[in-house]
Amino acid sequence: MKTVDSSLLKKWYDSEYSTCETGTLFGEPRSEFKQFLSTLPNGCGSALELGCGDGRNLTALARKGYSVSGVDIVDSTVHSRKLNPWLKDLKFQQSDILTYVPVHEGYDVVVCSEVLHCFTKDELKQVMPKIINSVKPGGYVFLDILSDLTRFFQATGEPFIWDKEAGLSTQDSEGFFDAWLGDFDIFAFNHCFDKQSWPLSSSENLPIEPYTWQGTYVSVCAQKRK
Ligand SMILES: C[S@@+](CC[C@H](N)C(=O)[O-])C[C@H]1O[C@@H](n2cnc3c(N)ncnc32)[C@H](O)[C@@H]1O
Repeated sequence: MKTVDSSLLKKWYDSEYSTCETGTLFGEPRSEFKQFLSTLPNGCGSALELGCGDGRNLTALARKGYSVSGVDIVDSTVHSRKLNPWLKDLKFQQSDILTYVPVHEGYDVVVCSEVLHCFTKDELKQVMPKIINSVKPGGYVFLDILSDLTRFFQATGEPFIWDKEAGLSTQDSEGFFDAWLGDFDIFAFNHCFDKQSWPLSSSENLPIEPYTWQGTYVSVCAQKRK
């Protein structure tokens, strides 16, 4: 199995976001996230997304009345924060989640979606306390882990893994959330299979050959006990 240097991923995302001039690289939020949204109070609260990408989830939260903050390792909202009126007041910070320190119990809603599979098991032990501590008592989280993940290069069919990833199965991921979310009431667990071919945009000079991945998002919706 080929192992690829995961620092390429940052260049890859940078290239995708800067090429997608509409600022809508990922399109609509996934259905599990929409389901989560429907359970949230309409509000005047605050929401944070770690690894926010183009801000599709934050847009949905802003439409529901939340003031939104986003963090990403690349300048992922370079176009969307200018073009998308729902993101005009977005507080965006370019930062690695591993070094970012969220405000303690600062947010009514915290989202970390389609990101946690990028961390090793040791890194996940650093990331999860940040997420848990950033949620206000009575606040909500939406988290997912892309599990049973496989990838292959489109040109050769050769499979590969990143040098830094936890490689969790769907069962591992459910156990992982159960173990970390002891102070929360979990009100939804979902499994959603996905398969995508990358790049999503027609970027040129990409740092890695086009590839296809497939896996199952194990997502969890939970409310922190007061
Ligand atoms: C697949 S996108 C998902 C974006 C968004 N959460 C969504 O669901 O639409 C993954 C995002 O995580 C970001 N990311 C990956 N590792 C990160 C890290 N260590 N710190 C901050 N952002 C990271 C990437 O730059 C990318 O924008």
